[in-house]
Amino acid sequence: MMNYIPSEDRYEKMQYRRCGNSGVKLPLISLGLWHNFGKIDDLENCRNILHTAFDNGITHFDLANNYGPPPGAAEETFGKLFKEDFKPYRDELIISSKAGYKMWNGPYGDFGSKKYLVSSLDQSLKRMGLDYVDIFYHHRPDPNTSLEETMGTLDLMVRQGKALYVGISSYNAIETEAAIKVLNRLGTPCLIHQPKYSMFERWVENGLLEVLGNNGVGCIPFSPLAQGLLTNKYLKGIPKDSRAASHRGNGAIEEDVVTEEKISKVKKLNELAIKRGQNVAQMALSWILKDDRITSVLVGVSKPEQLVDSLKCLSNIEFTEAELQEINSILG
Ligand SMILES: NC(=O)c1ccc[n+]([C@@H]2O[C@H](COP(=O)([O-])OP(=O)(O)OC[C@H]3O[C@@H](n4cnc5c(N)ncnc54)[C@H](OP(=O)(O)O)[C@@H]3O)[C@@H](O)[C@H]2O)c1
Repeated sequence: MMNYIPSEDRYEKMQYRRCGNSGVKLPLISLGLWHNFGKIDDLENCRNILHTAFDNGITHFDLANNYGPPPGAAEETFGKLFKEDFKPYRDELIISSKAGYKMWNGPYGDFGSKKYLVSSLDQSLKRMGLDYVDIFYHHRPDPNTSLEETMGTLDLMVRQGKALYVGISSYNAIETEAAIKVLNRLGTPCLIHQPKYSMFERWVENGLLEVLGNNGVGCIPFSPLAQGLLTNKYLKGIPKDSRAASHRGNGAIEEDVVTEEKISKVKKLNELAIKRGQNVAQMALSWILKDDRITSVLVGVSKPEQLVDSLKCLSNIEFTEAELQEINSILG
């Protein structure tokens, strides 16, 4: 039984940007299911997060084979909620998955072989109850498999109709340029790159954004709030219900990342944000979206309220030169 009726004015609430040179547009804010959608998480909270996202015009949900815990669980949670609430809206959604990190034991359970990637996408489709994903990513570079094999497999998935578009994640600028070339030669252009990018991690500014901009490839940064550090949440210590305190594993931040040095920067950033009519989380998202080579920014949330809060960034994504300089001097 379908109980969910999405908000009718959802598309008026969101702005959409074209993804590189492609025909497809993404919402300025997209939702990732890396954490908070595992077996250990409350299903009704997961449902509320997805409803809040779609009701606000977020048409893009990002997953991967290993999201959970345990690995695979986020795709299962998504599959259940998709079946119950979102099936009628499949054509309004961009759903992505990835493979690259360890998913099963043995030599075929990670990295970038054709053997691994083909099996992994088949498993992901089954867990999510989908016929195809909109975007399939190679999740991280594989130093031991040729780009011809890995990119050739992405091309194969598109030709088989199991993915509409393909992308890469965490490839550096040189690896990205090489992957783009191979994909172009195969006739399946690279749609998008998913790098880690936040005020605290700016490596993409040293070459990657230029490669993407020059080649008409979109960009969707992940962990734009540095997993919650770039919010008000840790200003008075580490709350019990925070990601840093929950020891979720699989790359989630731990307490030792919440240093005095970081928090003192966040406090200063927050003061500047207030002058802009924002909080630090909203400013951190706007700051990424100021660059038009960025297609969308990929957030995670543990509660629907966080998403509602973050979405308010959209009313101010412009920065003055003085604000940008102040941010740079705070970040040091
Ligand atoms: N390609 C890759 O290798 C890769 C790697 C990592 C992530 N990703 C993708 O990127 C997505 C986002 O990553 P992320 O979850 O690390 O992003 P993030 O947005 O930097 O961090 C999300 C966390 O920040 C806190 N938060 C979010 N909005 C808030 C707000 N308005 N006020 C206060 N706190 C707020 C919440 O922490 P609490 O949970 O503590 O409440 C939330 O869980 C993932 O879901 C995944 O799709 C991709």
